[in-house]
Amino acid sequence: MPRFEIRTRDGLARVGRLTTDHGTVQTPLLMPVVHPGKSAITPTELREQFGFQMVITNSYIIRSHDRFREPALQEGVHGLLGFDGPIMTDSGTFQMYFHELSKDEIDPIEILEFQKAIGSDIGTILDAFSDPDVGRSQVEQDVRVSLERAAISAPRKGNMMLAGTVQGGVFQDLREHSAMSLATMDFDVHPIGGVVPLMERYRYADIVRCTIGAKRHLPPNRPVHLFGCGHPMFFAQATFLGCDFFDSASYAKFAEAGRLMLPSGTVHLNQLTEMPCSCPVCSTHTPDDLLSLPKEKRDLELMRHNLHAAAAEMRAVRQAIHDNKLFELVAQRARNHPSLIEALQSLVPFHQMIERSDAVGKTSSVFYTGPETLVRPEIQRFNRSVLERYPTRKTRNLVLIPDDARRPFSDTLGTVIKAVRGRSSSDVILAFITPLGVVPWELEHVHPVQQCIFPETLDQATLTFIEESLQNFIGSLEFKRVLLFDRPTSLDAVVQSLSLGIDVRSQTATDLIDHLHESADEGGRWIRRKLEAVLAHQWGKEASRIAALDDLDADISRATGKIRHVRQGGALLFTMVPTTGLLTPSFEGGLRLQDAEISPTYVVKVDDDVREFVEDGKSALAKFVYEASDELRAGEEVLVTDQSGHLLGVGRAVLSGPEMIVFDRGVAVNIRHSRKA
Ligand code: GUN
Ligand code: ZN
Repeated sequence: MPRFEIRTRDGLARVGRLTTDHGTVQTPLLMPVVHPGKSAITPTELREQFGFQMVITNSYIIRSHDRFREPALQEGVHGLLGFDGPIMTDSGTFQMYFHELSKDEIDPIEILEFQKAIGSDIGTILDAFSDPDVGRSQVEQDVRVSLERAAISAPRKGNMMLAGTVQGGVFQDLREHSAMSLATMDFDVHPIGGVVPLMERYRYADIVRCTIGAKRHLPPNRPVHLFGCGHPMFFAQATFLGCDFFDSASYAKFAEAGRLMLPSGTVHLNQLTEMPCSCPVCSTHTPDDLLSLPKEKRDLELMRHNLHAAAAEMRAVRQAIHDNKLFELVAQRARNHPSLIEALQSLVPFHQMIERSDAVGKTSSVFYTGPETLVRPEIQRFNRSVLERYPTRKTRNLVLIPDDARRPFSDTLGTVIKAVRGRSSSDVILAFITPLGVVPWELEHVHPVQQCIFPETLDQATLTFIEESLQNFIGSLEFKRVLLFDRPTSLDAVVQSLSLGIDVRSQTATDLIDHLHESADEGGRWIRRKLEAVLAHQWGKEASRIAALDDLDADISRATGKIRHVRQGGALLFTMVPTTGLLTPSFEGGLRLQDAEISPTYVVKVDDDVREFVEDGKSALAKFVYEASDELRAGEEVLVTDQSGHLLGVGRAVLSGPEMIVFDRGVAVNIRHSRKA
């Protein structure tokens, strides 16, 4: 049973916890490779001086030398390394490839049994490594061998956790096939193998395709390990692809070659006049100090720098996931090498898959980093929602207002919005043309509209994206006239390209509004429209029926125009979270959503056995989820019911629907309000 749980996420990345017999570790995590005999820095030092929680060593090397094998068999691998934390072992696959050993050199079952015998926390199967330069038929053969060995190894893993490596070279379909087959077997971790030569040649885009290809078929409750990725240049991006484990032998290899690893790339000691970072080594030595040391001592100092740099980058990555800022970190790191930019661009075709994994309900700012900003899950999701769910489709007047996303939004547009609201709601659709696409007025406060920060000058890809968003939106509406607030913004090119006739253009908002019918806001109609649109955005069109209930009453902030609470006959139904612009239902609100027959996407059914726990307001645990939709994203506000659909509570999903089904650990839904509490 996998012993992994997710704590927080960003894109495909997650901060998680893995429980081993030698302690619990936090992921994403980097394991330094330690050689059983000649490790210059001991595993305990790695933990105490650098903060590494887990190490990886090689069972084939241990088994090949009496001086390692005998103590390992007697005192375990923990005794051999003098380390009481978790230890992963590799199988010798890489040695077979690197030293071109004969294929009978290692027996897959013997090496598996040996890893069990020495008490490894996570063992690795003997997979067949494919060099990127061999042809497809050789890779097919390697995949076949790897899968055969996986199939005979998994049933014998005993109490050891076991890693089943995905091979397939640079062929995405072979990676997918491998992953699909391994997913059906009993593994705890899935390494992506065969990438070391790709890393060395900066073929990051190939790694992206291989990793995503595999990732989309691997069960989300098993950590993914990018085998042999130890360079901090790629940690952010690999984590964004969903990798949880990394290992590094490069800290030592680079040091021996006089090279220092940094998140910005690699530098050679000979080229430096200044030390490049703020680690203890760089802060207390000059390049000349290091060059004057005997080689062995110099290597040790460079190793120490490399470990500090790698550990610091891994901390930065985890922090970025917590802050929902990983995309920005990836984009920054990508500027250090054209191959990383290439890799970032190769993510574009996978934006739908990334969006499905990303959490709803974020509050973080979305900073423009370059043309890749538009594939960000928040922006893609918002645009799709506008097209599919915006409830008002028919009007007399379509009022378009360019907004170049300098914030705050309401400051620049407050007058327009106020003026429009003095007009009859029944004959206006008010929409802003913004760098993240079209934003109907009703959704002005929904994340990421207010949180997107774009520069004044937009790149061509962004302009094309805005144009498409606008054309799609306009194409989905029926209207009689178009009124344009014609003010100079960076969006001029888009506005000029509009293929529809503009009936009224005006340089001032008030002139523009004079073309609309005046009205006393008929019974809070504008507010109902806002509520309707937000309900539809969150739970689908069915939910928007709630906005039509008779005795509904919403309080609005005078300062910001945001809805605060929605009540029906005095009973609280919804509260709007100011930072996300999204509604959270009360238990009563949950009942109204149920009455409205919202899509089953937003309903999580739990086992009848735990009915009372949830009714009392306790979290719904993944282990007890009976049914959850494939379409449910983490972070959504959901209804939690028993097996027959009786509402127990409402709350925020911590996991996606597919994750709720496979995870045995952790919380599925944090209950906000329940039947009894
Ligand atoms: N170490 C680096 N790459 C690999 C790989 O593909 N498989 C295994 N088992 N170990 C590795
Ligand atoms: Zn340093």
